[in-house]
Parts: sequence; structure tokens; C-alpha cells
Amino acid sequence: MTPAPSAVQTPKPFKPRIFSGIQPSGGLTLGNYLGALKRFVEKQDEGIETIYCLVDMHAITVWQDPEKLRQQTREGAAAFIAAGIDPARSILFNQSQVSAHAELGWIFNCVARLGWMNRMTQFKDKTAGKNAEAASLGLYAYPSLMAADILTYHATMVPVGDDQKQHLELCRDIAIKFNNDYGVDFFPVVEPLIEGAATRVMSLRDGTKKMSKSDPSDQSRINLTDSADQIAAKIRKAKTDPEPLPDTAEALKDRPEAKNLVNIYSALSGQTVAAVLVEFAGAQFGTFKPRLADLAVAKLGPITDAMNRLMTDPAEIDRTLGKGAARAEALARPILNKTKDIVGMIRSGSE
Ligand code: AMP
Ligand code: TRP
Repeated sequence: MTPAPSAVQTPKPFKPRIFSGIQPSGGLTLGNYLGALKRFVEKQDEGIETIYCLVDMHAITVWQDPEKLRQQTREGAAAFIAAGIDPARSILFNQSQVSAHAELGWIFNCVARLGWMNRMTQFKDKTAGKNAEAASLGLYAYPSLMAADILTYHATMVPVGDDQKQHLELCRDIAIKFNNDYGVDFFPVVEPLIEGAATRVMSLRDGTKKMSKSDPSDQSRINLTDSADQIAAKIRKAKTDPEPLPDTAEALKDRPEAKNLVNIYSALSGQTVAAVLVEFAGAQFGTFKPRLADLAVAKLGPITDAMNRLMTDPAEIDRTLGKGAARAEALARPILNKTKDIVGMIRSGSE
């Protein structure tokens, strides 16, 4: 029997699939954990198909010491697993092992427009105060490779921190332009997932700057490899203002350092900011900071311990990345092949 029209489900052309990446360009920070890793685990546990990548090709857009790059890639993989990524459920690998990223990246370099790239604020920030002419061509093309990372899997959702919003808009523009230029409906228009209290964790030394693995001051960030004592000392010394904590989130608006510490507490504890303020309204930082330090140590300590255990067997990490890469390759290759057919590139096996 033919179902009534209202009951007819239009099949969605793209099935839900999550992709995200982290650069192995340094040790991971609390910002990476709260803005990315913790949410990657939540998405995996919701049962969505998840693909996570250590983007080593992005990392070399700025020179990396080869031995450190290898070490940081393994450490990144260990952090994913320690935080709860199960390599049997999620696909976990490093980008350079799946050449589809580079191949589709080139095709996208020919779709993206110079004008679009010129508007990318991250490139401007990374070259600010420096000689932009001396930046690598790779750093400039970085967002186009990022679009290839996502679209070579037809991923539909991308969990990231707030700083990646513009790059994901570019990814949407590339997908739309490719589809228009070739008259196809081939690449999905991805949805950025930028959610929660910690989409932008700020520096502990300056509440107006993002916490970053590349900040010259180690005091500005909490590293996932820091010991309990280091974490406690960094939080104790974190910049604050002299006022006690207020009772509303609104009152934190012009207090960037206070707001950052409350946001971190909220994200680590899973409580809303409002609930945190109900608990701490009127408290001085002398009271709040030790509580935050205890919470951070309780949440991060087990992850650091698991990372350290995993890092004692680098060969096993390499095997895990290799298996992940083989699974990623199996998903990416047919999509890349179809892309080449659409573009008009001859390849053996196509007709
Ligand atoms: P990156 O370290 O630049 O490779 O970033 C990897 C992921 O972590 C991206 O989704 C970023 O948006 C996220 N991320 C990096 N730093 C922060 C931060 N300070 N706060 C929130 N998310 C961040
Ligand atoms: N550009 C991202 C960052 O620095 C890392 C990244 C590369 C990424 N490729 C990606 C994130 C694809 C999400 C999806 O944070």
C-alpha cells in the first residue's frame, strides 16, 4: 500500500557523520580538552559515527621539529584515548596517512577564491606583527585543506571551538561552489557544532586572549601533561580582579578573567554557570581558586595518568593510528574517486 503523502519520509542524502581534527603542533591544553576532546567523546557516546584526526599536515604549515612532531602526534593520540575515545568505535588516525586529504585539498585550492582566503582572520592573526610574505603558502591554504578533511568523508557535523567558526563557513562556501560549478549535489553543507560553556577557554594570564598551546608563557595554560601541583599552582597564580564572585552571569560581562575561571568550573563540573554562581556568589578568589584547582586535578589527573601509561608503548599507538587510517581510507577513497569523475579526471577503473 502506498503511504499517505504526509507519511512519506524524504530520504536525507547525507547520513550524520562527525569529523574533527586537532593539530599535533604542541601539547594539548585545557582549551583543547574542554572545547574539543571532551565533546568528541560525548558525540562518540551518543552513537553517531565519529572520525577524529591528528592533522599533521596542518601542523607543518609552521615549521615543526620532526622528532617533536612524531612525539606530539603520538601524545595527541594518547590524549584522545585517555579522554575516552575508543579506537574501535571512533576512527582515530593521523591525516598524512590518508592521501585523499591532500588530493581533495588541491582540488579545493582550485575552487576556493583568493578573496575568500584573504578574509581569514586566523591567517591574519598568525602573521600579525610578522612579515606575512615569509609565511608558508601552506598556512595561507590551510582552510582549504581543512575543508578537504571534512568533505572527503561527507561529514555533516564538525565539533570545534569558537576560533574555527570562520574556517567552517569557508568549508560551506567551498561545498556550495563546487556543487554549483559542476551542477551536482555532491558535497554536504556542514553544520558547525560550537556548544557549551567552554567554546573559548581564555589564557590564565590575560582573559582577552585564547588559551593556546603556542603561547610563549607556560603559565597561561594548563597542559594535559601537567602534574597536580603544576595545575594547582597555575590556577593559584591565575590573573583575577579584586571583587568577589557575583550572583549572575550578566555581572561577569566586563570581568574577563573571572568569567573565564567560572566558565572553566562550569565546563569541568557539568553544572551551568548559573548553578556555579549560586554556589559561589560572594566568595573571594581565595576560596574559589582552591576549589577550581581540586576540580581540575580530579578531572584531568586520570586523563594524564592514562596518557602517561599509553605513551610507554609508542609502537602500540602507531598501530592504532595505522588501523584507523585504513578505515578512514576506505571511506575517503570512493568519495575522492567520485569527485575526480565529476571534475573530469581520468583514473584507471573509471569508465
Ligand atoms: P588546535 O589546537 O588549534 O588544533 O585546536 C583543536 C581544537 O581545539 C579546535 O576545535 C579548537 O577550536 C579547539 N580549541 C583550541 N584552543 C581552544 C580554547 N582555548 N578554547 C576552546 N577550544 C579551543
Ligand atoms: N584548524 C583546526 C584547528 O586549528 C584543526 C583542523 C584541521 C580541523 N582540520 C579540521 C578541525 C577539520 C575540524 C575539522 O583547530
